[in-house]
Amino acid sequence: MNIENFHSELKAELDLTQKYIMTFSESNDRLANKAIKHIVSNKGKMLRPILLILSGKYSFLASNENPKNENHFIDEVAKAAAILELIQMSSLIHDDVLDHSSHRRNKATLNSLKGNRFAILIGDYLVAQSIKNCYKLIHHSERLFGSTIMYSFLDGISKLVLGEVQQNNFNENLSENKNGIDNYFEIVGNKTASLFSLACFVGSTVGNNKSEHTELLERFGHNIGIAYQIIDDLRDFAFAKEISGEKNFQDIKFGIKTLPIIFANHFSQNGEQEKLATHFNSKKELSENDKLEIIEILKKTGSIERSIGEAKTHIAKARIILYELPENKYSILLSDFVCYLSDTCDKVIENINISVSVKQ
Ligand code: FPP
Ligand code: MG
Repeated sequence: MNIENFHSELKAELDLTQKYIMTFSESNDRLANKAIKHIVSNKGKMLRPILLILSGKYSFLASNENPKNENHFIDEVAKAAAILELIQMSSLIHDDVLDHSSHRRNKATLNSLKGNRFAILIGDYLVAQSIKNCYKLIHHSERLFGSTIMYSFLDGISKLVLGEVQQNNFNENLSENKNGIDNYFEIVGNKTASLFSLACFVGSTVGNNKSEHTELLERFGHNIGIAYQIIDDLRDFAFAKEISGEKNFQDIKFGIKTLPIIFANHFSQNGEQEKLATHFNSKKELSENDKLEIIEILKKTGSIERSIGEAKTHIAKARIILYELPENKYSILLSDFVCYLSDTCDKVIENINISVSVKQ
């Protein structure tokens, strides 16, 4: 399963979403528009809009809505997906400032082109536009989902920011890690899974689903989001990254406590924690020997396997939740989405195996 399948299956809805992203992010300032165009044109895989649209279409079909309302529903679901993607874009602009990132998806970041102040303000503008357009969406809708959706978007933004605040404090010291694994899941639940569960919740609500199904879809999104973040953490150890021009071992260099590092620190002994701590947040590019030393600790503590286990557990949880929903065409596509994530996980694992065999 690859992401292009979803892009072609949902082409009409995703094109409409893209159109609304452009409309909602426009301003009457020339420089702001230029910057926003740069951001909007550098779109990612649109995972959250895909989940929102699939949950919406699942729910619209499941709720036996009058098909005459379908065009209106599609328009609202695309607007909701655009609002969500604007929040995501804004959070990435801010994240690049915090992480001092010069590139995202092989394109220069706004902070590297225009400086931190400008980038932060553009990020702020996009959140403001997303809230304003959420208000407009519910105000103009004839449906009754109004305040629920407004509240859930605001709650999602608040969790996202809180997750970043928590991560910031959490990353300060590698050895202060007694509750590291629990803290990790709480932080990732806020900073990453919040927007995935929001996508499913909002889609389902716009599609007029029963509340118990909406709740299941929300939990589905949460598990997908956690698995997605762990896979992203694992990617830092994948050697194929180097081939695509991105560097690996960057999370250690910049002091980000990813799940493999938390496990390594938790299960290591005999001075290994000190070895990890020397590299953590060193801001220096790691030498091949440093990398081999870290890989050795990761192997000894089974940290990669443990992290893969956690990613797979959350993928399995998401799959089980889908079994609880009455089946229709879109629950099958949601289960294809689970397969896509699972395949992505396997590809990352293959690349990590290469890194391990390099050492042997
Ligand atoms: C990616 O993290 C970033 C996030 C999951 C959330 C970032 C959120 C903020 C900075 C809070 C501000 C939010 C708003 C709405 C203004 P990562 O660094 O792990 O991933 P990356 O590899 O994609 O950079
Ligand atoms: Mg980042």
